[in-house]
Amino acid sequence: MDINHTDLEKLLKEDLDSCNKEHDLLQIKSKYLGKKGYLTSLFTSLKNIDPDKRKTFGAELNSIKNTLSSMIEIKLISLRSSNEVPEKIDLDVPARHHNNGSHHPISLIIKKIENIFLEYGFDIHDGPEIETEHYNFESLNIAKNHPARDMHDTFYFDSQLLLRTHTSSVQIHAMETSNAPFRVLAPGRVYRCDSDPTHSPMFHQIEGLCVDTDITFSNLKWILNNFIKEFFNSKSIKTRFRPSYFPFTEPSAEMDIMFNGKWLEVLGCGMVHPNVLKNVNLNPKKYSGFAFGLGIERFAMLAYQIKDLRIFFENDINFLEQFKNIR
Ligand code: PHE
Repeated sequence: MDINHTDLEKLLKEDLDSCNKEHDLLQIKSKYLGKKGYLTSLFTSLKNIDPDKRKTFGAELNSIKNTLSSMIEIKLISLRSSNEVPEKIDLDVPARHHNNGSHHPISLIIKKIENIFLEYGFDIHDGPEIETEHYNFESLNIAKNHPARDMHDTFYFDSQLLLRTHTSSVQIHAMETSNAPFRVLAPGRVYRCDSDPTHSPMFHQIEGLCVDTDITFSNLKWILNNFIKEFFNSKSIKTRFRPSYFPFTEPSAEMDIMFNGKWLEVLGCGMVHPNVLKNVNLNPKKYSGFAFGLGIERFAMLAYQIKDLRIFFENDINFLEQFKNIR
């Protein structure tokens, strides 16, 4: 038996030339190379030929098979590339919208206050929000039956553990873990069982503590007066100190600022009580200091003219987006 491969190649070429669909090409492929195709029948006829010639004949068949396969392959590639839709660029498609986030106003105020106190040489400290009675009260000179504990509306976990009611507990942690002198600024969340337009059960405070060998009330006044001037960016803003009471400071004061023609209370402060110093093994005869605590929401409400503090915690996107460009 003889095969004429030029014939087979010619035949296939004609078929391929008239083919312009991938589907038709598959049929051509099976006509030549498929189970019932020309080549398969030639391969089956191998067994009938003289064993001496079988080898060369087989090799010849394989080479025809390769030629035909590659002709079909080339056609397939050319069909596919001519069917491809050229990529169009539509210049009218609106750009994809990137919604940038913003810093929360409370974070902005914390950063602003931190930056002012960093200039005065204060370090930023952190403390636990779940506290023991010891750190939240006892070490701050607030004994077990002290009436000041009632003022704090504390959330208790059990008789020992509670959610800290103020950042003053960080004063103790800071003094226990490093050595005097101290200049500590501690922002953070605090919790009190209280809720109305000006009180939220969770809010933020910043604690300040400065302890050294010769700190006086005039240092406290200078730092706080300067801080207020820098915060409100006004050299002429009026402030005043009113006597007050905190168990952990003596004397204690409340600081007011003149805002829109009215005195507004903005923070509590005082000279660190000798008992507090003793509680962290500092000699009150050698060391003295001042401390203050302020409500961050109060400062944010004043800075951004916000009337109801609950809006800080509602995650209202329209409210939050207003702070987008403030750094
Ligand atoms: N811890 C006080 C409060 O929460 C504020 C304060 C801090 C007062 C430090 C004096 C000194 O009201």
